[in-house]
Amino acid sequence: MRKVKILGLLGTGVIGGGWAARALHFGIDVIAADVKPEMEEWIRGAVANAEPALARLTMAPLPPKGKLSFTTDLKVMAQRADFIQENIPEQLPLKQRMLAEVSRNAAADVIIASSTSGLTPTDLQRDMLAPERFLVAHPFNPVYLLPLVELVGGEKTVQGTIDAAAKFFTYIGMHALHVRREVPGHLTDRLQEALWREILHLVNDGVATTGELDESIIYGPGLRWAAMGTNMIYHLAGGESGMRHMLAQFGPCLKWPWTKLEAPELTETLVDRMVEGTQAQAAGRSIRELERLRDDYLVAIQQVLRQYNIGAGATLRSLEERLYKDAATSHNATPAEPGKPLRLLDTVVRTEWVDYNRHMSDFRYGQVFGDAMDVLFRQVGVDEAYRDSGRMYYTVENHIKHLGEAKSGELLYVTAQVLKVDDKRLHVFQRLYRGRDDKQIATAEQMYLHVDTKAAKAGPADAKIRAKLESIAGQHAGLPAPPEAGRRVGRASH
Ligand SMILES: NC(=O)c1ccc[n+]([C@@H]2O[C@H](COP(=O)([O-])OP(=O)(O)OC[C@H]3O[C@@H](n4cnc5c(N)ncnc54)[C@H](O)[C@@H]3O)[C@@H](O)[C@H]2O)c1
Repeated sequence: MRKVKILGLLGTGVIGGGWAARALHFGIDVIAADVKPEMEEWIRGAVANAEPALARLTMAPLPPKGKLSFTTDLKVMAQRADFIQENIPEQLPLKQRMLAEVSRNAAADVIIASSTSGLTPTDLQRDMLAPERFLVAHPFNPVYLLPLVELVGGEKTVQGTIDAAAKFFTYIGMHALHVRREVPGHLTDRLQEALWREILHLVNDGVATTGELDESIIYGPGLRWAAMGTNMIYHLAGGESGMRHMLAQFGPCLKWPWTKLEAPELTETLVDRMVEGTQAQAAGRSIRELERLRDDYLVAIQQVLRQYNIGAGATLRSLEERLYKDAATSHNATPAEPGKPLRLLDTVVRTEWVDYNRHMSDFRYGQVFGDAMDVLFRQVGVDEAYRDSGRMYYTVENHIKHLGEAKSGELLYVTAQVLKVDDKRLHVFQRLYRGRDDKQIATAEQMYLHVDTKAAKAGPADAKIRAKLESIAGQHAGLPAPPEAGRRVGRASH
């Protein structure tokens, strides 16, 4: 598959907007197509609304944001995109028609995916040109924060399409779940629908309100599901013999049965009860307000799960590994040259880095210098494998001097001069520049100590890593010593 630099979207409603926000955040350009010209303003608003939560998801260095363009001409989108995601209303004939048209305008190696919640790929690819490059890629709302995407191939889809799509979705921080066989509703919506059907019955029969039913999930199973899902949790509930015991104990109840298969009739009374119930739960809060609350806790949950390397937290961790690795090998990070400091990192001042003065907050300078050092470490081989082997450099001193400001959205870059290396210590001097005018806005002098993390004490660095650092120090030997190095905190003149 071609490298995805531009994501094409067909249909820019709730789901199209979510795809746009996610792709742009991870540096992919987006060309969005919708029949309604007014959707341009809508999608730009949707991307802006997603930004505050997305920006807090990870502190890993991100590439510059992608650019968003909009067209009402499907052909323009199809001809420019490297990957196309369709998100138009859930109507089979409409989707079939539009997907066929997209396929006639896109290059043959462009993958075309549909966000459909329940239609099957074999039906959708029926009239397409080169249907082997089509698949269903079913996301979840909000697409910019939930990592799950279900991938389903149809009769004509080839495995290479599924693999390439999985690679792209992983790149933008998602968990691609390959659904082995196409079934209406894929996997997740079948499960969600079963639960929702029971909710409708319980409300219809006057057994519980919508609020009580939400409580029955929020305070119990909901907390368990995010990390372990239903089956693992039941395995744990069965004691030492796990799932086998669980099935023996509760299996007979499945026959009673507790639940109903048919959904109840959506009578006016039932619809009213559902609507009034959820309105009471919302307690006057607008959808926007509730969305913000939802987005905030979705970010927080993923960060907690990351600590345990479980579920969506594990996905976040691998995304961050990828981002750090990419920052270290980005074309802007230069190899050492005699008499020239290293250019380590190019980044941009993110919206949430800015304080009440509308300038980058002081602690973010530390973050940027830290990210730049991460690039240097990776370049010399201090990476995950090295860390896993129980060795690492720890920061023992850091002196930042502030010389200027940077505003939200401004480009920044960091250079570094290696001052001294011995078997345990690394002494580095970094300079932070503002891209707009190449003005130096901060310096950082840092001392790192090589640590044996298992023994929790200083220990010698690997010989190869030390040799690489010494070679860089050698290239830098001719550079003038930075006048700020070794400086104490100066007293500002009055
Ligand atoms: N909303 C969800 O929670 C959710 C979740 C996962 C998947 N999906 C699926 O995503 C798809 C889109 O759902 P949505 O909720 O974003 O719908 P939506 O109604 O919010 O957006 C659909 C958009 O498609 C546009 N459109 C209609 N016909 C078009 C055409 N011929 N060409 C270009 N644009 C056209 C509309 O103008 C609209 O902007 C559906 O297939 C749905 O099943 C929805």
